[in-house]
Amino acid sequence: MAKIYNSVTELVGHTPLVEFKRLAKELGLKGRVIGKLEYFNPAGSHKDRIALEIIEQAEARGDISPDKTTLVEFTSGNTGIALASFAAAKGYPFRIGLQPGVSVERLKLLEAYNAEIIPVEPELLAPVYEKGIEAFGPIIERFIEETPNGYATLQLSNPDNVNAHYKHTGPEIWEDTEGEVGVFIGGVGTGGSTHGVSKYLKEQNGDIKTIVVQPDPESVANSAVEGATDGGFHGIHQVKDENGLTAMTPDNFNENVIDEYQYITYAETLKAIHLLAKYEGIFVGASAGASLAIAIKEARKAENEGKMIVPLLPDNGERYLSEDIQRVRHELEDSVEL
Ligand SMILES: Cc1ncc(COP(=O)(O)O)c(C=O)c1O
Repeated sequence: MAKIYNSVTELVGHTPLVEFKRLAKELGLKGRVIGKLEYFNPAGSHKDRIALEIIEQAEARGDISPDKTTLVEFTSGNTGIALASFAAAKGYPFRIGLQPGVSVERLKLLEAYNAEIIPVEPELLAPVYEKGIEAFGPIIERFIEETPNGYATLQLSNPDNVNAHYKHTGPEIWEDTEGEVGVFIGGVGTGGSTHGVSKYLKEQNGDIKTIVVQPDPESVANSAVEGATDGGFHGIHQVKDENGLTAMTPDNFNENVIDEYQYITYAETLKAIHLLAKYEGIFVGASAGASLAIAIKEARKAENEGKMIVPLLPDNGERYLSEDIQRVRHELEDSVEL
């Protein structure tokens, strides 16, 4: 029987779980580390799921249609790339403003998908450095004002971001592990993935533990990646410190479905990326490396003997080749143990 898809949008989701058996053997791990490879989505990351859900739910409500609407977003990358791809596939014009520190690859991908890059004046961007996501509101409002029939996808607060992971990513992990998943690990940008996945998993089995990986503040302050304001972790940031939730906590984050917060340094992140490439032939981005590093630490614990530990691996390392982490890592990574 012929198997021909009608659109790239039909290829979103159903990403594979892969058990890292050689890595476990080499490191002598007790737990089973099983990565959810989100770069198998057609535009290359877990953000494909939310871009599609946000667009298709807005279409179903009658809020947008390709003949009248221009989609608008302010983002640092993967959501923009996913929106740009699916906007093109569905016939929407798409305008995007870029957060500071976007990698060259991401910018070029946006251009390749025909997105219109909106120049953002330094005065408008300045508060982003100080206040983080709180400062996004006025920028998006400006974009909407200047875009006739503009529709902002608002990934930080749009519930369809969380719903995409609750409806698909969580169930996929549950079904593919036949309900055996014991620990889930993810980082927080908008909060959509950890919230949606963890909510679903905990509804199936309240004993499943969810750990949020947080970039070590020291690594962020003294970024090893030139020009990166996020320490090179790309897409994830700290949401909780000793005083509670930080100003970087988006509406879509939900602390009620989180059991633990653990810090990871950039050096540990690079080490995890390197080990995965070396023993499994899989090359992931930094946010994936951060979750994987926590997974490795968890898999060393006696209490996790035989348990399935699933880190969400959002994207591929090819998206950051210009950062030359293969060179940076020798300076940092060789000095750490995982
Ligand atoms: C590479 C990468 N990892 C992780 C995240 C965080 O995911 P979420 O927005 O679901 O919290 C993002 C989000 O921007 C990302 O681009």
